Amino acid sequence: MSSRPAVLVLNGPNLNRLGIREPEIYGAMTLADLETGLRADFPDLTLRFEQHNSEAGLIDALHAADTVETAGIVLNAAGYTHTSVVLRDAISSISTPVVEVHISNVYARESFRHTSLIAAVCSGVIAGFGVESYRMAVRHFADRP
Ligand code: DQA
Repeated sequence: MSSRPAVLVLNGPNLNRLGIREPEIYGAMTLADLETGLRADFPDLTLRFEQHNSEAGLIDALHAADTVETAGIVLNAAGYTHTSVVLRDAISSISTPVVEVHISNVYARESFRHTSLIAAVCSGVIAGFGVESYRMAVRHFADRP
């Protein structure tokens, strides 16, 4: 077992299309670029990356990360943020802390994006800083004792 803290960066639907998808909102960086950048920024962490387009995939990943080795989960649940009771229940069912992140400032967008069904069961929320949102969330777990 590695003694380095492990952090899961978990991305939801359509985030596999970063770099192609609405670049005026989400930027030009691909998911692979994001992952490479985070690995370079946090060489002392064991970073794991998963992306799922389905609720089931995200829920299974959350359950699997409920381990003592996992210091935290950085979750961009994408559109499921605004709709998914089952994702909220999955977060509530685990002990590993979860930080909700968004690339865009969801509060400056359509009103349906202003509601998060998961925020209340997460340790914190970071939105609107582009891919820097992920870096801030990973830093939070890296800095924890
Ligand atoms: C998003 C914001 C969501 O409203 C949207 O459905 C996404 C991406 C973001 O990172 O800004 O897919 O989570």
